[in-house]
Amino acid sequence: MRCVMNEKVLVAKEVHKAFILGDTVVEILKGINLEVEKGELITLFGPSGAGKSTLLNVLGGISKPNAGKVYLNGRDIYGLSDKNLSVIRNQNIGFVFQFYNLLPDFTALENVLLPALIGRKENAVLRAKELLNELGLGSRMTHRPGELSGGEQQRVGLARALINNPEILLADEPTGNLDTENAKLLIDLIVRINETKKQTIILVTHNREFAALSKRTVEIKDGKVI
Ligand SMILES: Nc1ncnc2c1ncn2[C@@H]1O[C@H](COP(=O)(O)OP(=O)(O)O)[C@@H](O)[C@H]1O
Ligand SMILES: [Mg+2]
Repeated sequence: MRCVMNEKVLVAKEVHKAFILGDTVVEILKGINLEVEKGELITLFGPSGAGKSTLLNVLGGISKPNAGKVYLNGRDIYGLSDKNLSVIRNQNIGFVFQFYNLLPDFTALENVLLPALIGRKENAVLRAKELLNELGLGSRMTHRPGELSGGEQQRVGLARALINNPEILLADEPTGNLDTENAKLLIDLIVRINETKKQTIILVTHNREFAALSKRTVEIKDGKVI
């Protein structure tokens, strides 16, 4: 099940994904090929409805493709058992969502801690506090999402995605609901994380200016990489 691919941390091969709507099959991804190198920051660009979120979910082990393979460090992730795939999702992949997806009844610190508790990581509290401090949320740790601004909530989302030190960070239009200033702040943090921690990142964005910050922009159109 292993396949040799030197420094490619993530590889998609001929990925197809379709959804059934009523009695029609709508093909969204029509043979996507993508190779991501360790430490790369890639921006994923394309019109609304192009399939960017669908692709990110497939790459992140959230949604199984109808055909094709996704390899993480040479391992075919959808060839794994559900249990092993959920371990990969917890340990190797960090996800940042457009609508934050924080748990409303938990504090910022607790939200960040959850993946570490699931993964039984040591020193989780210390690491969560360090991350929150790094992201400028040192004075917001005991606040619940409802008591935080959008920009702050998304930085909590970013800290949660990073808590288990994943190999890959996937961010799906993380600035989609933020004002210009907070959007810029978040993107600066993402770029800095890529530079200082050599974190591999795939960032979906609508913003050409943000896309220009990465060395490689991948454009999705009509279900294919163009
Ligand atoms: N679970 C689903 N069921 C049916 N159709 C879906 C589902 N998820 C996405 N789609 C459709 O797939 C297309 C691509 O969606 P999406 O990947 O969210 O695009 P993007 O993120 O590029 O805006 C859209 O037409 C959307 O309606
Ligand atoms: Mg989307």
